Amino acid sequence: FFIVLAAAAQAYLLGSVDTGILVSKYLYHDDVRNHGSGAAGMTNMLRTFGKKAAALTAAGDVLKGVAAVCIGRWLFGFLPADAAVSPYLGVYLTAILAVVGHTKPIYFGFKGGKGVLVAGGAILAIQPILLPVLTIVFLLCLVPTGMVSLGSIAMAASYPVLTLIYGLLKGFAADDLIVCVVGAAIMGGMVIWMHRANIQRIREGKEYRFGSKHKQ
Ligand code: G3P
Repeated sequence: FFIVLAAAAQAYLLGSVDTGILVSKYLYHDDVRNHGSGAAGMTNMLRTFGKKAAALTAAGDVLKGVAAVCIGRWLFGFLPADAAVSPYLGVYLTAILAVVGHTKPIYFGFKGGKGVLVAGGAILAIQPILLPVLTIVFLLCLVPTGMVSLGSIAMAASYPVLTLIYGLLKGFAADDLIVCVVGAAIMGGMVIWMHRANIQRIREGKEYRFGSKHKQ
């Protein structure tokens, strides 16, 4: 029980370290959440402060996703050998809590980002082979439309499906497959839920766009 609690707590506390808020507050003496979409993520950092701010935010958010899952996996390694739990339970528990921390950070009034890059970091630590496919899905949506949010939503929706295909191809045991697909669906669902204002703007044709072809 204490191992599970420690894994969950570290993931939430690490996830709560929103790089975008720290970079905007300490390097730009401002709060990114008061600009653009109000989100503390790479996209809004790019929109508000430019490429350097966005790159720092992306690096920090991906790294904390990787770290949370690696620490979670390491802690779950201390469970007794006869504990009948899927090895994927620990990684998905920590991945989900890192996304919760990023979107509802305990240090910053529970207002953070939308969880895309922290989830990306977690996936890098869980099944990195899925990342090139997710990136293609993202680009297929972003390039023609200029909408990062559309790419993020498409990635989040395809993640559980890709996880299922990957698990079937790899011949996962039924319990591992269920944990992975349910875990991926929760992560994807959280990211889509965090984009509900974007979905509304997309429907109304008012979503922010990047790129010369599109007006910002
Ligand atoms: O990763 C967040 C992105 O998908 C949308 O960000 O700031 O345009 O709402 P934003």
